[in-house]
Amino acid sequence: MQADIERVFFTEDQLAERVRELGRQISAEYKDRNPIFIGVLKGSFVFMADLMRAIDIYCDIDFMSVSSYGSGTKTTGAVKITKDLSHDIEGRHVIIVEDILDSGLTLNYLRSYLEVRQPASIKICTLMDKPARRQAPIHADYVGFECPDAFIVGYGLDFAERYRNLPYIGVLKPEIYQ
Ligand code: IMP
Ligand code: MG
Repeated sequence: MQADIERVFFTEDQLAERVRELGRQISAEYKDRNPIFIGVLKGSFVFMADLMRAIDIYCDIDFMSVSSYGSGTKTTGAVKITKDLSHDIEGRHVIIVEDILDSGLTLNYLRSYLEVRQPASIKICTLMDKPARRQAPIHADYVGFECPDAFIVGYGLDFAERYRNLPYIGVLKPEIYQ
């Protein structure tokens, strides 16, 4: 698997350090607000697990599953909710946790979907941000790293469901994408 990687963009140490910083910042800003973190499956599961252990205030954790991608590298724009929340979020402070904000179509849809349930607030925390590719009017409140306009894998991010278990983030050799 490691042999498929052409270049490492973010090492394990860089990811760990940045995730701890985000955890400290969110913990300070949400103290006494009992936030609910909503992880967007599957891509966010590794980030979510590390981020939650860097949060040291009372909070709830839930997950949703949406699919906007087939096995390719381009968005279709269509978003389908395949697993909904198990919590009531009315009056709650919600933080959506995503792996990567690319076109923004997924999060734009998800945010409107959650707003209907009348939470007290909604913020977005994404590990990776690719602002150059934005199509929907959405920005993240907490960003791990801005990343280059390349299709990246690892630390939860997949290509055709593979490579989520890589402990770092990198780009595949071109022949793998073909
Ligand atoms: P958006 O709706 O275009 O913002 O797409 C967001 C989703 O597309 C992410 O949650 C990922 O699942 C997937 N995605 C976008 N860019 C990448 C990438 O570079 N690598 C892996 N998955 C990606
Ligand atoms: Mg995703």
